[in-house]
Amino acid sequence: MDRNLALEFVRITEYAALASARFTGRGDEKAADQAAVDAMRKAFDKVNIDGTVVIGEGERDEAPMLYIGEKVGVALENSPQVDIALDPLEGTTICSKGGVGATSVIAIAQKGHFLHAPDTYMFKIAVGPKAKGAVKFENTPTENILALSEALHKPVDHISVAILDRPRHQDIIDEIRQTKARIHLFGDGDVSAGIATCEDSSGIDMMMGIGGAPEGVITAAALKCMGGDFFGKLHFRNDHEKERASKMGVTDLEKVYTLEEIAKGDVMFCASGVTDGPLLKGVRTLSGNQAKTYSLVMRSKTGTVRYIETQHNLNLKSFAF
Ligand code: FBP
Repeated sequence: MDRNLALEFVRITEYAALASARFTGRGDEKAADQAAVDAMRKAFDKVNIDGTVVIGEGERDEAPMLYIGEKVGVALENSPQVDIALDPLEGTTICSKGGVGATSVIAIAQKGHFLHAPDTYMFKIAVGPKAKGAVKFENTPTENILALSEALHKPVDHISVAILDRPRHQDIIDEIRQTKARIHLFGDGDVSAGIATCEDSSGIDMMMGIGGAPEGVITAAALKCMGGDFFGKLHFRNDHEKERASKMGVTDLEKVYTLEEIAKGDVMFCASGVTDGPLLKGVRTLSGNQAKTYSLVMRSKTGTVRYIETQHNLNLKSFAF
């Protein structure tokens, strides 16, 4: 994939972040999400790609825009055929409450290179580059913490594990507490928590637990760019979800997916902060109808991680922010 595309894609997450940030703390999740979707959809119309949304806002009948299978971009004769995994507003509740770490994210791969994950849950384990190979899906949480401790040269009580704060994780939490490792319970946004494992200074060494499967694909793409590792196993709450997965082509419902099986080949990843988080600052409004966005753009091919700070003159945008 052409590296120049990376900057085209960051405009898309910047637009979605600017649009949804208007709803920060306003208690309206739907409006915040809709603003992000509208802005992202519009921004795609300026990019020369032959894109297909494979992880999106849902099925065509439930999502009018950015639905799975929707074609995006302006396809010219030589435009690259790419698959897109996106979440215009990752952390809708965070944004509506003005909390920590709402982002707008997109991951891009060559056609057919992303797992077409159903909209179910996924059990996920994410770690940074230094723990790659040491942490294994089949290990117990205790075994993985010991492996992390060895790989990162840190005593166990210095290891920190991020877990979504949900009752379904109580067993894991109890087991990890026995090891004396630290736990960072977070309310929403496991994409950011997963990516944080690749940032030494984030204080997060591993993210584990059950969250959305679509978010799992996006996290895996980001970790691929940063040299981390990721495992995912679909988690179904009922037969209906199993049927949906089968319809989407999942033949082995018990399969443990490796990072390479979720995001094959070269991938790109972009994120822009909506509210302040461990990874990125959120949108800043400045005087004179100006605003700043803070974004991250990465490519797995080169491993380059770019942080981009952009000042926007909102008077000159064709879109109302
Ligand atoms: P949304 O942005 O769709 O609200 O997702 C937020 C999120 O916290 C994800 O990061 C996570 O994967 C999922 O929800 C967890 O789902 P649940 O809230 O049902 O436990």
